[in-house]
Amino acid sequence: MNDDVQKYIYRTLTIFITGVVIWVGFIFINACGFSLVCKQAAPVVERTPIPTLFPATMPALQIKNKPAAISDTCRVAADDLIGAWVSANSPEEAAFQFVDVNGKTCQATFAEVLPIFNEPNLRHSGSLACVSCHSVDVTISPAQLDLSSYAGILAGSRRENAESKKGTDILGGGIWEKSLLYEFLTISKADIPGHTDAVFADAFVFAGKPFVEPVSTATPKP
Ligand code: HEC
Repeated sequence: MNDDVQKYIYRTLTIFITGVVIWVGFIFINACGFSLVCKQAAPVVERTPIPTLFPATMPALQIKNKPAAISDTCRVAADDLIGAWVSANSPEEAAFQFVDVNGKTCQATFAEVLPIFNEPNLRHSGSLACVSCHSVDVTISPAQLDLSSYAGILAGSRRENAESKKGTDILGGGIWEKSLLYEFLTISKADIPGHTDAVFADAFVFAGKPFVEPVSTATPKP
């Protein structure tokens, strides 16, 4: 009785193992034939006959009037920019340097200073542009001051007429902190319309670009 059960178990096991071996063998031979180098088991290689990535030999496309990235422009308090220009002896064309809010040395020209006098809403929304009062016609401009152009700013205030090139110097003779312009931009004057909220240091502008030291071409000495 015991022997019979054992026989059954052995027989079943033998049949099962033989079945598995035959089955695996069948699959192997079916897929690979009678060789051990089974090509069909290798991963499928997906290749396109044409290269899809061409080497970048073309020059980069130049976009006209491309706005400079914010990271390469300089941000500065409006009065610091004017101050740097005055301290550099107020050049009309030549570039002058200033330090921006991040301590970066930057370079700008008068062309970037002038808009500060021309732009409304600079100090706060609704604030008047300087030129809406101090404009070309000195006979009606308060303090006979024309802030609309380089010539006007240099001519100064209290001018007799448009022809007179010499008024009161508003640029402090190149010493910014001593200038009338500095005084009227940074100190509020309760009784003067347009100057009741003169704290200009809160007005920031983007101007100029980072100053890059010209690369020296001298060969280093050994
Ligand atoms: C609402 C009109 C108005 C606006 C806007 C205005 N001002 Fe004036 N400004 C005046 C008046 C008024 C005086 C004093 C005139 C006087 O004393 O006879 C004056 C005086 C000045 C003076 C002194 C001149 C001197 O010889 O005493 C300077 C400098 C000046 N303004 C610069 C500016 C600047 C820079 C801005 C722009 C941020 C500006 N003003 C905006 C009306 C204005």
